[in-house]
Amino acid sequence: MTREGTGLAADSQLITSLFALIPIPVAIAEESGRIILSNSAFTDLFPGVQNIQLMPHHEVEIPGRGTYELETVPLNDQGMKIVYATEITNEVQLRRQVVHMEKMASIGRLVSGVAHELNNPLAGILGYAQLASRSDLDPSTAHMIAVILAQAERAGKIVQNFLSLAAKTEPKRVGFDLNDAIRNVMQLREYQENVDNVIMTTEFSDGLPLAWGDPHQLEQVFLNLIVNAEDAIDDMQRRPGSIHIKTTVEAGHIQVTVTDNGSGIHARDMARIFDPFFTTKEKHRGTGLGLSICAEIVKDHGGELYAWSTYGSGSTFTLELPIRNEIEIEEIQPIRASQAHSLRGKQFLVIDDEIHITELIFDVLARQGARIDLANSGVDALEHIKKKNYDVIICDQRMPGLSGQRLYRMVESLNPEFQHRFLFVTGDVVNDQTKRFFLQAGVQYVRKPFRIQELVEAIEKVLSRTQPQNF
Ligand SMILES: Nc1ncnc2c1ncn2[C@@H]1O[C@H](COP(=O)(O)OP(=O)(O)OP(=O)(O)O)[C@@H](O)[C@H]1O
Ligand SMILES: [Mg+2]
Repeated sequence: MTREGTGLAADSQLITSLFALIPIPVAIAEESGRIILSNSAFTDLFPGVQNIQLMPHHEVEIPGRGTYELETVPLNDQGMKIVYATEITNEVQLRRQVVHMEKMASIGRLVSGVAHELNNPLAGILGYAQLASRSDLDPSTAHMIAVILAQAERAGKIVQNFLSLAAKTEPKRVGFDLNDAIRNVMQLREYQENVDNVIMTTEFSDGLPLAWGDPHQLEQVFLNLIVNAEDAIDDMQRRPGSIHIKTTVEAGHIQVTVTDNGSGIHARDMARIFDPFFTTKEKHRGTGLGLSICAEIVKDHGGELYAWSTYGSGSTFTLELPIRNEIEIEEIQPIRASQAHSLRGKQFLVIDDEIHITELIFDVLARQGARIDLANSGVDALEHIKKKNYDVIICDQRMPGLSGQRLYRMVESLNPEFQHRFLFVTGDVVNDQTKRFFLQAGVQYVRKPFRIQELVEAIEKVLSRTQPQNF
């Protein structure tokens, strides 16, 4: 008896200790909801709670503790209940991450759609600004046009970056000097920084190995980092502002740091600065896309981009790129003046449903003495081609109705010789199917928005295929 009694007492003591010490928050409540027993994990998590009816149900986020799921199960037939909480912080984070990734993917699709739409107006702006800059102009108009040109080119590059990010195409891969890329970008900002009293200093490593990748994309990254630093300095009204750029080789990587004495980044924002559309800037100043694009570009180059900051005194962005051995350097061809072929007397057909593009190409060709017919659809073009012998057929790839590709196939079956006379203008080379078509057919193409020089060079290539060379 005694032994049995002692055993029972010991058992209930054990159960009480177990209940008290178990790290899962548990409580027992009466039918009315009044809590009659709770362990320390429970009171620790819900201090002062005396009635489960007053408690939140399902998921509850407790600041500083994480997310918990609450469950209530019946204990006996007097209506008593057990309530316990399980921590689900990791699951919730994972779920949020998945939702976030899906959201990013749909934003990516949306943005690439917008980028396509921007290509045509940009091609118009860029083209006409180039045409205008060729005439004799007074210096102030020339300056204004130069600004339009530079801005349209920058916008064009951003659009191309968007499209290549969205399509995940292989960017250009060449060996190049990262210090030079940084110097190019610094030049772009020099004037504005002088005006704003921002002093840029550098500490470039002399023996920096060549970086491997797309120099224009990395220039885009540095431009973004520098403009962000300027904005942060502006935010604090810190004068003179300072931006220090340093290149080194660290632990087998090429490392670039961009340090500013601007506003710094608040700890609560740190995790979000690389998210698309996260911005602390006023509406017209920032889109919040800069850093997310930078991070993607750097990742595509096998590198890393991260930030370190003290709120109130400045930030450092660090970019690391892998070092590759045995880089073959691609000679960068200087843009040469077009001299090979005169267009005088040559017969052109220009097909585009976008009137500004046809007019622009018309203007370029007309200035060089070409004869030009215009068509605003594939069907219209086919009628022209049946009637006349064209030296070059400049064709938009994406048109409603008869697409550029189908037109090409139809013309090919009419007269196979004509296939060498096509020159495609496209905003869509990143599309795999289009790319395959261009490669297989071996046709020339230029990408919107194009420089006039690029168009003229592509025309020359088409002509040199079809005309005997004059020596
Ligand atoms: N050098 C910096 N100092 C302080 N804050 C910065 C710095 N760089 C970025 N940030 C913070 O990160 C946010 C996101 O930067 P991001 O470049 O992605 O977008 P943005 O500059 O706001 O807009 P956009 O680049 O599209 O014009 C900024 O709004 C700013 O709050
Ligand atoms: Mg930015």
